[in-house]
Amino acid sequence: MPADTTLLATAATDSVAGDGPLRVAVIVGSVREGRQGRAVADWFLRTAAGDPGLDLDVIDLVDVPLPLAMPDWGGTPAPEAAAVLADVTPRLAAADAFVVVTAEYNHSFPAALKNLIDWHYTPWQAKPVGFVSYGGLGGGLRAVEQLRLVFAELHAVTVRDAVSLHGPWSGLAEDGTPRDTTVSEGAVKGMLGQLTWWGRALRSARRTRPYQG
Ligand SMILES: Cc1cc2nc3c(=O)[nH]c(=O)nc-3n(C[C@H](O)[C@H](O)[C@H](O)COP(=O)(O)O)c2cc1C
Repeated sequence: MPADTTLLATAATDSVAGDGPLRVAVIVGSVREGRQGRAVADWFLRTAAGDPGLDLDVIDLVDVPLPLAMPDWGGTPAPEAAAVLADVTPRLAAADAFVVVTAEYNHSFPAALKNLIDWHYTPWQAKPVGFVSYGGLGGGLRAVEQLRLVFAELHAVTVRDAVSLHGPWSGLAEDGTPRDTTVSEGAVKGMLGQLTWWGRALRSARRTRPYQG
């Protein structure tokens, strides 16, 4: 059993906002020195900030130094891991939806992102996930396709439309912002529209009938 379900099960409460804004955890998945990920995330946050229906919580994995080694099933995380989980797990649990900002590393997603995912189980369940990806010519799409498989295993619902930004030589400027903002902002709008529909529907459904897995 993943550590979060034993250590922090009591913290795993959904947003209590009724029909209020959808609480969206925006996860910044790359932690590399000199990364573009934070600039991409900041552009997304500026674009999404105008939507009054969203309450955005940024989880930047640079600030979430979870170790790779997990405890045995039912075991207790080491104190340093527990301290990190005490901050991040309740925020994941409180989210109604997720936006994952991901780079593409070797045709897949960054290891730090997978580590955060693997440390948790119930916080992902019956919630929608949207993607903002970036990378070379593929715009991070191979990372996204693989993440769809990962999140399906965790009972999450990935939304169809994603935001994909190509490398500096095409769509993404050196500061991590898109060159063609009209297209990219349209993609954000489309993805967030689907995320909001699923997020509201599933929030309501979880309250009516708690998800059993
Ligand atoms: C280890 C590593 C592997 C990469 N592999 C790919 C790849 O397979 N496909 C691709 O399009 N870009 C690849 N890239 C380019 C990255 O997508 C690009 O450098 C991006 O800016 C990385 O995100 P970051 O700056 O937030 O770390 C790779 C970069 C790194 C560091």
